[in-house]
Amino acid sequence: MSPTAGISRALPALVVSALVAGCGGGADASDGGTAGAGVPVYAPAFKDFHSWASTPGVGPPDAAADLLAAVDGGAHSMGPMTAYINARPPPGSTSFPVGTIIVKEVNVGELTTRKIFAMQKRGGGFDPGGAVDWEWFELQNLDADNVRIVWRGNGPPNGETYGGNPATCNDCHAGAKTNDFVWTMGFELSSF
Ligand code: HEC
Repeated sequence: MSPTAGISRALPALVVSALVAGCGGGADASDGGTAGAGVPVYAPAFKDFHSWASTPGVGPPDAAADLLAAVDGGAHSMGPMTAYINARPPPGSTSFPVGTIIVKEVNVGELTTRKIFAMQKRGGGFDPGGAVDWEWFELQNLDADNVRIVWRGNGPPNGETYGGNPATCNDCHAGAKTNDFVWTMGFELSSF
């Protein structure tokens, strides 16, 4: 990345952290606050996610099996995983409320090197061409309670492939549009 790009990316993050500092958001520049619609979250929002309501990964639904079969080395094919949700939607919901955070962590390996993906419902029409209202994240455990944000936005940074699969987060999750872009069995809107 050129130094100029670094500066232009850092500036909006600083502006955003200044804005949320007053409400105890605890953001810092490493959170890489993404400009755009809706209500962004920062690393402290993921604190203690291991204690949230969770469901074991019982493998992909049939509809996604072909897509997943093509993934080599991505978090979705790295063995057993657990999906965590910060708040269950009210019964009868047809979408997840703004503020919902879902984290998916692979169960095996050292805590700090486990692959972790997340999605947060920002609302406001964020990412209108993709999983509308959701922002994607990759996280890293710093310890059992705290994470850092590796990247965030409407997909991984340019040039980063997804386990060699050209499919993007949005490509695959579009297949779960009827469940508000969430695939995990156990997190069907009808199950809450
Ligand atoms: C090849 C298809 C595919 C791709 C590409 C993909 N996902 Fe998923 N994702 C799934 C499936 C299927 C599940 C649920 C079952 C599983 O993980 O085994 C899932 C689950 C998740 C979950 C848990 C909540 C949910 O929707 O079930 C998160 C968070 C998530 N993925 C994030 C991401 C991010 C971030 C990316 C891009 C870096 C991404 N996914 C790319 C297919 C995909």
